Amino acid sequence: MDTNIVWHQAAVSHHERCEQKGHQPAILWFTGLSGSGKSTIANAVDRMLFERGCHTYLLDGDNVRHGLNKDLGFDDDSRIENIRRITEVANLFADAGLLVSTAFISPFVSDRAHARELAGDRFIEVYVDTPLEICEQRDPKGLYKKARKGEIPHFTGISSPYEAPEAAEVHLKTADMSIEAAATQVVDYLTVNGFIP
Ligand code: PPS
Repeated sequence: MDTNIVWHQAAVSHHERCEQKGHQPAILWFTGLSGSGKSTIANAVDRMLFERGCHTYLLDGDNVRHGLNKDLGFDDDSRIENIRRITEVANLFADAGLLVSTAFISPFVSDRAHARELAGDRFIEVYVDTPLEICEQRDPKGLYKKARKGEIPHFTGISSPYEAPEAAEVHLKTADMSIEAAATQVVDYLTVNGFIP
């Protein structure tokens, strides 16, 4: 980093922003295979929180790759950079006092650990645990079919690894639960842990 760059103190403090919102900021970090239901569940959570009057925002993999991260592919280095940028952006939203959800495969333990390190107690890892067989059966975008034919290189779960979380704050075993039940489990975590009233 350039040594001539100096950090400016904000006129409105983080504490003041949080007081105005009436809840604590957090980063709900959804992780799971493609087709696991990350986006669907994160959207359901976002909607539930929004309707309770919380200030929220959702960062979604496919959408962010249309803009901020459209220069990135799916080789390991690109995914690392993808998650690094998302980590920074999510922290800005949390600094603004929001409950921010991120829905990215985020396949590498080390990148999620870095996100956790930066966010501290605000970081809530949500493991959308859907077995590969089920994701592949669903195949909502037809990507697994293409990946099996070798038409998509570095496809997560097929030709690129997914390192599952070992101690996520919220573990959603989606094979046996509805979207609403999964979203409720996340919102309950926020209530029990004092993030929302
Ligand atoms: S990552 O690993 O966190 O950088 O990926 P992410 O930014 O979440 O993007 C995942 C979505 O991109 C589509 N897609 C692929 N996924 C995995 N591997 C490869 N090679 C790939 N190519 C395209 C896919 O639609 C993912 O969306 P989801 O919502 O996860 O199914």
